[in-house]
Amino acid sequence: ELGEHRHYMHKEIFEQPQAVIDTLEGRVTKDTVLTSAFGHQAEEVFKTVKQVQIIACGTSYHSGLVAKYWFEDIIGLPCQVEVASEYRYRNPVVQDGTLFVTISQSGETADTLAALQQIKKLKSKFNIPTLTICNVPESSLTRESDLTFLTHAGPEIGVASTKAFTTQLVALSLLLTSVGKTLGLMDAKQEQKIVHGLLKLPGLVKQALAHEDEIQEIANCFADKHNALFLGRGTMYPIAMEGALKLKEVSYIHAEAYPAGELKHGPLALIDEQIPVVAIAPKDDLLEKLKSNLQEVKARGGQMIVFEDEESGVSSDKEFKVVKTTTNVGRITAPITFNIPLQLLSYHVALIKGTDVDQPRNLAKSVTVE
Ligand code: M6R
Repeated sequence: ELGEHRHYMHKEIFEQPQAVIDTLEGRVTKDTVLTSAFGHQAEEVFKTVKQVQIIACGTSYHSGLVAKYWFEDIIGLPCQVEVASEYRYRNPVVQDGTLFVTISQSGETADTLAALQQIKKLKSKFNIPTLTICNVPESSLTRESDLTFLTHAGPEIGVASTKAFTTQLVALSLLLTSVGKTLGLMDAKQEQKIVHGLLKLPGLVKQALAHEDEIQEIANCFADKHNALFLGRGTMYPIAMEGALKLKEVSYIHAEAYPAGELKHGPLALIDEQIPVVAIAPKDDLLEKLKSNLQEVKARGGQMIVFEDEESGVSSDKEFKVVKTTTNVGRITAPITFNIPLQLLSYHVALIKGTDVDQPRNLAKSVTVE
């Protein structure tokens, strides 16, 4: 079943171009997103939406965080994101017209399910349509939700979620577009641009995967380290969080993610030659700000690993190991593409560390108890 791969994690990382194709299949035309992909009553439901509340755990939570940037930045629709275990035990203020979105690979995560069940109790008082983005048909979350979008990632066996995350982001970009156009917040030109970007995504993912040898080499920087820091700005901040989670999970190295602009507010004190710093540097409006953050790290002797666009122009030297990961990525495709090298990095660090990659200690694939 593993074929040429040593581990499911590796196999699943390399299945991502196909997982993207399968998730888009039948959900887009060459220029448009089919709103009916979210269910035949989706358009009626989306017409009533005034804001979005996303609930999830772990990696699925990180995909929700990326979507928050998209919803607010691209269509100006308020979007909140929270981990299920917090949301379910506080008394959140619920507003009428909230699209309540759960995201889950398994569809069985106890906290996410409990948050959904709790919100459903308020349905008699408020209009709160529920939607789940899930990888498993016939799961608890799909049964309990008004609308369902299945990510067609195929079975994910490795405990570390990889291809499920990528397809969740694809699903969220389709949701953004469907809700945006239904509410008149996105025009046909913007929609076409997003769809064209998504259709290029399998190629972009392949291009990122082609850097495996370089990343394998860089993984050696982590062999004797106990801590790592991941930095990003904008949508790359949640991608940094996902990169840090993956590294912790499979290599047992403590890793933290920070928005690069927060460096001076504390984490800069950690920087020395013992802590590798991973930065994600797409060519976007925040690149120059990120570059000056990186200079601050360099000045303190930190070892930097930078994943950038070919056009970003951070040059390699003793302190900077630069991987020219991709070129020409857009706002939607950038976070999806830049996550790929972080998955490969964690995988190769785990191999060096000799951990149980597919079944990390203390973890279960599906967290059905809290
Ligand atoms: O099945 P779910 O997506 O609901 O699972 C949520 C988390 O338990 C999961 O993403 C976890 O964080 C992964 N092991 C991370 O790789």
